[in-house]
This record gives sequence, structure tokens and C-alpha cells, in this order.
Amino acid sequence: MDRRPEVMICLGSSCFARGNKATLKVIMRFLDEHKLKDKVNFHGGHCFGNCAEGPNISINGKLYTGVDEYNIIDILTSELL
Ligand code: FES
Repeated sequence: MDRRPEVMICLGSSCFARGNKATLKVIMRFLDEHKLKDKVNFHGGHCFGNCAEGPNISINGKLYTGVDEYNIIDILTSELL
């Protein structure tokens, strides 16, 4: 059982095209800079079924909508640091 915090980014076509492509890179850089790469279970997921409110990510099952490459920093900081 993986007890690490789980960060899942929606890589469905809507979220990906509307910002998660850039957000993905920001998350990877954040994990790298904070030496969290091995401490966080970060992976992509298929469409969350919530495209209209996207781009979406989820952290430990909690859904974040309207994510962009800027507000993701605050979200990751409050959830992971
Ligand atoms: S593509 Fe992300 S919720 Fe549908």
C-alpha cells in the first residue's frame, strides 16, 4: 500500500489542451526543487469527467478545478509542504 500523498493530474484532452500541459511541467519542477519526487505519488489520469470546470487535478482524492500553472504553486505548497 502506497502511503505517500497522491497527486493526480488530469491528462484528458480537454484539461491537457487548456493548461495541464504546462501545469504538468510546473508540478514536476516543484517536486524536484523540494526534493519530493520520491515522497509523492505523482501520476497522470484519464478524464475526471469534470471537463467544464477544468483544468483539474486531485490531491489525496480532493478535486481542484480551474488549475493553472500559477495557482498550482499555492495548491502544492499548502498540500505538500
Ligand atoms: S479532460 Fe480533465 S476532466 Fe475531462
